[in-house]
Amino acid sequence: MTTPLAELHMHIEGSLEPELILELAERNGIELPYADLDDLRSRYEFTDLQSFLDLYFANMAVLRTAQDFADMTRAYFARAARAGVAHAEIFFNPQAHTARGVPLSEVLDGLADAVSASEAEFGVTSGLIAGILRDRPASEADALLTDLLAVGAPIIGIGLDSAEVGNPPSKFVDVFARARAAGLHVVAHAGEEGPPEYITEALDLLGVERIDHGIRCLEDTDLVQRLVRERIPLTTCPLSNVRLRVVDTLADHPLRDMLAAGLNVSVNSDDPAYFGGYVDDAFAGLVAAVGLTAEEREVLARNSIQASFASDDRKAQLL
Ligand code: HPA
Ligand code: ZN
Repeated sequence: MTTPLAELHMHIEGSLEPELILELAERNGIELPYADLDDLRSRYEFTDLQSFLDLYFANMAVLRTAQDFADMTRAYFARAARAGVAHAEIFFNPQAHTARGVPLSEVLDGLADAVSASEAEFGVTSGLIAGILRDRPASEADALLTDLLAVGAPIIGIGLDSAEVGNPPSKFVDVFARARAAGLHVVAHAGEEGPPEYITEALDLLGVERIDHGIRCLEDTDLVQRLVRERIPLTTCPLSNVRLRVVDTLADHPLRDMLAAGLNVSVNSDDPAYFGGYVDDAFAGLVAAVGLTAEEREVLARNSIQASFASDDRKAQLL
């Protein structure tokens, strides 16, 4: 039997497909700077993380109402279920919406509508993780956490994403301490474009339970040994790494070496609408490019479930 997958690293705004972007623009009367679908699609060529983030944030302009957030999230669940995902922990970027004048309540209501029905509608259990934009001031992250806690936001944790280099984990010590004290799970992107030291900072200064990406740990053998010893989950995203030029091609991706080193890695889609596919596409690509075996896929699937924040009962059901 093939073990189902837990998807632990995906940004719901990064699942916004070009067709849905145009549909929501039309529904909300928003003028986009694209002539048509082909024109929009032609923009999906990235040179680094920032070049992607520019398009990712620009396209969020079409998300205005709770219904928009719910529709986007249901579309992801439908596709993820087909990809073999049985549990999903979904990042969203509240600041990217409130900064555009969209009330936090619209964002949370729409996401919660889809997430609360995901098991019944798609057989996918799920949770929400609020991703802090690390290139914005720490004071803004503090205010966001205050707001999320004040409204009893239906989140299971907080994360840290957006432009990594120059925005180290150390900038967010206070907000992560407050989140942990409030009983939230904590994770952070580290070692995607940023140096291995950011991974160490995320563990030691933020107390994170998982590292998102973490691929640059391979530059520091002591750090690799620590990650193996402490069984720290690394939520890798091979298609993302290729599209954002962290690695040249899928054949060059070190996932198999990471597995062989005993690292606790999983495979995730990151921003599936932008990076060439969902998690089943990532596995198919790895089979074609590096001959990923069925045994390796099983280890990756089991790692993903064990590293998830699902209940022990749900984990036992899936393993
Ligand atoms: N890295 C950092 N921030 C992000 C990403 C990513 O891959 N995707 C969406 N926000
Ligand atoms: Zn990510």
